Amino acid sequence: MFVTFEGIDLAGKSTQAELLEEYLKTKGFDVVTLREPGGTEVSEKIREILLNPRLYFNSFTELFLFEASRADLVRKIIKPKLEQGCIVICDRFWDSTIAYQGYGRNIPLNFIEMCNLYASDGLEPNLTFLLDLPLDLVLERLKTKSTDRMENEDKDFLIRVINGFRELSKKYPNRIHVVDGSDTIENIHQKIIKILNNYIG
Ligand code: TMP
Repeated sequence: MFVTFEGIDLAGKSTQAELLEEYLKTKGFDVVTLREPGGTEVSEKIREILLNPRLYFNSFTELFLFEASRADLVRKIIKPKLEQGCIVICDRFWDSTIAYQGYGRNIPLNFIEMCNLYASDGLEPNLTFLLDLPLDLVLERLKTKSTDRMENEDKDFLIRVINGFRELSKKYPNRIHVVDGSDTIENIHQKIIKILNNYIG
């Protein structure tokens, strides 16, 4: 099973991904948690470039770097782990590319969908948790940390990305489950477990 976490920056995805991994391990599952971009030596190097606030590049360079990172991670780790029967949890996957490079940077969505398809080798998550957070909370949380290149974007970009994720949840209602990211860590975790257990049946 392939589970992904999505949402705007600082929505709490990484914390929830870790908690879900711990929960599934206590239930005896073989679990691996990864992040995008990242997860392999090549993809971690690409991540450093993508998030470096001193670097500037155009939207297509950005898109292809995210896809390059994905192409490496899917083939080297995600697919082999799924084939071994592992549950793979990924902190972001191709919904992020639709939300950030599509809605955020205005690259045509059908072009991104095609890039996603090839980069991910046709792999689609079984279950996606979208941690939804309103703009004012994102801005508040951003004030508390030093920001990377993506987090330096303006308010309008963030609004487009938040709305992009919401549009995706309408497009894939069976796969994408929206969870209120402003709730407490424990409440969010419990909601996620409930949805996952319903899915596993
Ligand atoms: P994060 O792993 O800390 O969430 O940071 C990754 C950043 O990269 C985040 O700002 C979202 C962004 N991103 C994209 O713009 N497109 C993508 O396809 C992915 C996977 C991430």
